Amino acid sequence: MYVSDPAVVCLSMAPEPLHDIAHLGSVELLTPRPDRSLWYFRDVLGMTVAHEAGDSAYLRGYGDYAVSTLKLTAARTAGVGCIAWRATSPEALERRARAIEAAELGIGWTNGDFGRGRGYRFHDPDGHTMEIYYEEQKYRAPAELRSSLKNQPQKYAGRGVGVRRSDHLALLASDVAANRRFAAGLLGFQLREQVMFDQGKTELGSWMSPNAVHHQLAYVRDVKGGHGRLHHFSLWVDNREDVLRAADILAENGIFIEAGPAKHNNSQGFYLYSYEPGGNRVEIYSGSYLVMAPDWEPVTWDERERGSGTYWGGALPESFIQYGTPDIAAGDTPLDPPKLPVFF
Ligand SMILES: [Fe+2]
Repeated sequence: MYVSDPAVVCLSMAPEPLHDIAHLGSVELLTPRPDRSLWYFRDVLGMTVAHEAGDSAYLRGYGDYAVSTLKLTAARTAGVGCIAWRATSPEALERRARAIEAAELGIGWTNGDFGRGRGYRFHDPDGHTMEIYYEEQKYRAPAELRSSLKNQPQKYAGRGVGVRRSDHLALLASDVAANRRFAAGLLGFQLREQVMFDQGKTELGSWMSPNAVHHQLAYVRDVKGGHGRLHHFSLWVDNREDVLRAADILAENGIFIEAGPAKHNNSQGFYLYSYEPGGNRVEIYSGSYLVMAPDWEPVTWDERERGSGTYWGGALPESFIQYGTPDIAAGDTPLDPPKLPVFF
């Protein structure tokens, strides 16, 4: 094929993309009110408890193929524990472990957790704990939870919001650019959208993904200067009507709704943000769009274009910028600044 556009020729010389990470596997949320948090995810959002052990409960959405995608662990303060990513193969897991170890971000190999095999644990540059694994226990529903649909892992619970699956999470980071470079360079995530202020000099947020889901990991600037903190964890429902119904259900159960239902401009996500009883921000999410292009050009929003962060609906409140878990303003102690090498 003859290519006359120099820009196209330049793109054709870009390095081969990494495809070693398949998807977000499991997120561990820490909660100082484990019983109430369990009630929120099980009874209000309609997730199913797959296992309980020690201070932890393992939950799943009815559409999750893995046995568990959310681990709730009792802790002194709210926040995020281990974020687990599934590799595309055993070889991909070994490759990523070697690369992360070489970057001096590694913690070491683990024996895995309920539902998943051995994994390589590490820190991102902000100090969040992550793990990559390959072996995954697929969910086999007991008779009472078996779906009449052969291609659905569990029958629709019909309880509460009825979330289908885990979708993504957003992490706070003091240096968004360093963490974005880490996720792109070492995990192979594709950058989808960014918010850049001050003529591109200040990176406020980057939305990234290892697959066609618009974003599975977002880094958003930690305005408090903390480390290792969570902005929100997001669960998927099939359509906007489900999000509206979720708002009714949350309100009926006395759950604080921080924002929404409304529509973001970046990601086009239709959102509803609440705080689970332990204090972590949880999003009920639908809409958005898929990205198939291997040569996707990231969309960048500046101050004027970003606006309030909404496309329509009520503006996001100031707490959306200020609040994260652990809650520094309430005296919760975040992680110490990580003693990590300067990345890139
Ligand atoms: Fe989100």
